[in-house]
Amino acid sequence: MRFLPRLLLAAALATAALLGCRLLLGGRGDDLAPRAEEAPPLTLDTFLHVQQLRKKRLRAFCSHSAKVAMLPESREERARVLSSVRVSTKLDFLYCQAPATGMEGWRWLLEKLEEKGNVTVPMLLPYPRQHALQTQLSEFNQTMIEAMMGSYTKVLFVRDPFQRLISAYMQGMGSSPSFSSFVQDVLDGGQHNASLESKPLVSLCQPCLIQYDYVMMFGFLRQEVGHLLLRAGLPKDIRLPEFTDTQVQWTYKWLSEQLFSELSLKQKKQLSHFYRWDLSAFQFSNSLLSGLLSMPETW
Ligand SMILES: *[C@@H]1O[C@H](CO)[C@@H](O)[C@H](O)[C@H]1NC(C)=O
Ligand SMILES: *[C@@H]1O[C@H](CO)[C@@H](O)[C@H](O)[C@H]1NC(C)=O
Ligand SMILES: *[C@@H]1O[C@H](CO)[C@@H](O)[C@H](O)[C@H]1NC(C)=O
Repeated sequence: MRFLPRLLLAAALATAALLGCRLLLGGRGDDLAPRAEEAPPLTLDTFLHVQQLRKKRLRAFCSHSAKVAMLPESREERARVLSSVRVSTKLDFLYCQAPATGMEGWRWLLEKLEEKGNVTVPMLLPYPRQHALQTQLSEFNQTMIEAMMGSYTKVLFVRDPFQRLISAYMQGMGSSPSFSSFVQDVLDGGQHNASLESKPLVSLCQPCLIQYDYVMMFGFLRQEVGHLLLRAGLPKDIRLPEFTDTQVQWTYKWLSEQLFSELSLKQKKQLSHFYRWDLSAFQFSNSLLSGLLSMPETW
């Protein structure tokens, strides 16, 4: 009885891993991917409206939470708080490097644009342009960090924390006997010991300190990234990596239900609590964890 579900699970994991790879490499062609429903084109107005809603929710979360909202004075503390924040000093972009959120395709795109050499972004900066090689924000001095946070186009990629967890599990397949024990290890380790893959985005990306201009949602990237690039002033004729997140989403929906059912009620509740900030700060309407969060009034 248990054999068939496991077999299906293995097949789905393989498909998801394959799709994840294609997302990373910006692969072409849809031959192996399950066909996603063709969504109607997203208008610029709708894109901007959705962005307003996401940022409004985030601001509401930040106004209630005690999350880091000031740049720390000490260099060590800044390095800790901003450890996942990257910049492209050539293209004037700031983004959070959170694994398995779709930002891999974005980073690939920025790298390609930087290599091109003649792509520039029409942006007025209140200081001489840097053209620094380093991409880690915390490596700059406090004055520069503040200037970059104030002037760069800041982009955040977000994804349902439960899906991020599944992605982390798939990458470490074999090191945990089951998903349930993998989850237990994450819960036992606590927030501070969490790996990049399982750490809540609110801790990783500091959205209350950095006022992101764009909050990009996994599952909609294919439609949203084009608008983002045009708004940011990048050339129209660049070839976008093919974001396959819409298809990946289809596999993950099924996977999520399977793997969620392997968890005990206690684990489910603890996971909701573990990711309570992400679930409050962002709208993951289909997250299996959302329903379990007994929405506390104070964070
Ligand atoms: C940038 O360089 C590419 C070739 O490297 C060329 O095809 C393109 O026309 C150039 N664009 C501008 C705006 O100069
Ligand atoms: C910060 O770095 C910039 C660029 O490297 C430099 O021009 C500036 O003098 C530095 N400021 C301080 C306070 O060290
Ligand atoms: C988590 O990390 C702290 C130190 O940062 C350590 O004291 C603690 O034992 C760790 N907990 C687990 C369960 O690994």
